[in-house]
Amino acid sequence: MPRDRRDYFYRKAKKEGYRSRAAFKLKQINERFNIIRKGDTVVDLGAAPGGWLQVAHELSGGKVIGVDILRIEEIEGVETIKGDIRLDSTVEKIREIIKKESGKEGADAVICDAAPNLSGNWSYDHARSIDLATSALECARKILKPRGRFVVKVFQGDMFPGFMDKVRRQFTKVQAFSPEASRKQSAEIYVIGKELLPDAVKINGRYTVTIEDIGASGDGIAKVNDFVVFVKGGKLGETLDIRIRHVKPNFAFGERVEG
Ligand SMILES: C[S@@+](CC[C@H](N)C(=O)[O-])C[C@H]1O[C@@H](n2cnc3c(N)ncnc32)[C@H](O)[C@@H]1O
Repeated sequence: MPRDRRDYFYRKAKKEGYRSRAAFKLKQINERFNIIRKGDTVVDLGAAPGGWLQVAHELSGGKVIGVDILRIEEIEGVETIKGDIRLDSTVEKIREIIKKESGKEGADAVICDAAPNLSGNWSYDHARSIDLATSALECARKILKPRGRFVVKVFQGDMFPGFMDKVRRQFTKVQAFSPEASRKQSAEIYVIGKELLPDAVKINGRYTVTIEDIGASGDGIAKVNDFVVFVKGGKLGETLDIRIRHVKPNFAFGERVEG
């Protein structure tokens, strides 16, 4: 009998009617990080056979959409799409469903437990997992609403810190977490991103701006792509070059750069 079949969470999933032991990983992630909330629109990338979809549906009671290259057996109250998350056409389909069915500007949470088929070659599998997680991050960027939440699985390895940096550039709060329901010997880890940052400005990006107003703290106020940027020492009417130091969901801080 495979080890799986004797596993505690495998048996628990069977007993409680979940399609996968992974269901308990999402429950543990949500207990800790409150990613899925009542009424949320949730998109699950790499969702087959559907354990996470069952949990997402229980937690939100709102619109839940599952995507996989494999067919997902029907779950009441859940919409499914057969598609590859790396393709723009799949992202477009997800966006259409969110708009049509929930009437929202974007999803509240994007969760991704997708995994490549494992070859057994550690560094190859690690690279493919990072590649898939990066596609999930790009997809999340396109379908999440401002301040949206994100969870993605990655197999650890030397490209992991670089991936964390990418997530940090997109979300205000980023953490890595290993749920108890992950097997002890597993290399998987979940990256949690909260408060999707706006697309209008990039951290370390350089822009030429004009100070349009002065804030209560004395900082100059400028706009980049209609997004408010506070510039220390900026004088009213002055045009100057700035570099973005910090980005918050509704505004950013920039500093003067010379030349
Ligand atoms: C570990 S399973 C997900 C289990 C699921 N969270 C559950 O609880 O039932 C990983 C899934 O990722 C899917 N997957 C891998 N690459 C994909 C891709 N490029 N696009 C969509 N799904 C993908 C696989 O087909 C597989 O069903």
